[in-house]
Amino acid sequence: MAQLNIITLPDRSLRRKSAPVERIDDDLRTFLDRMLEAMYEAPGIGLAAVQVGEPRRIITIDVAHKENEEGTKSPIFLINPEILWRSDDTGIYEEGCLSIPEYYAEVERPAKVRVKYLDRDGREQEMEADGLLATCIQHEVDHLEGKLFIDHLSKLKRDMVVRKFSKAAKEGRKPVF
Ligand code: NI
Repeated sequence: MAQLNIITLPDRSLRRKSAPVERIDDDLRTFLDRMLEAMYEAPGIGLAAVQVGEPRRIITIDVAHKENEEGTKSPIFLINPEILWRSDDTGIYEEGCLSIPEYYAEVERPAKVRVKYLDRDGREQEMEADGLLATCIQHEVDHLEGKLFIDHLSKLKRDMVVRKFSKAAKEGRKPVF
């Protein structure tokens, strides 16, 4: 099976709002595995289905893969995730996105979140996350609303990034930052 292709700026489909998953079956689990493969291959620590052209509320995450030197895999699949609680205290991480390659910027977000979701077996789960995982969950849940991490930056910076990607796409090259 061909690997899933990750959509990048300035593709407007990244702005689509994702629809809830209604059935968790073997077809969906196969899709989850393909998403995970594309994410590891990229390589990235989080991926939303809309980034591979499927506007459904599905996220794959593996922050351990980056933090852990041995590269141990511990993927998490979040289906129909919903952030139930965000802490008042915030944290700052330098974020990147597989759909905005080579561009990184610091984003401030709530430091902790509690999220409920369905796992790959369709079971309801709840998780409290902090650190990089909390940031990653919020970044990916944003994708489901058509929101990108550059939306958290100033309009000036955001416009600069979009302009660079649009210009590069027209010229058939990659943007340089
Ligand atoms: Ni992203």
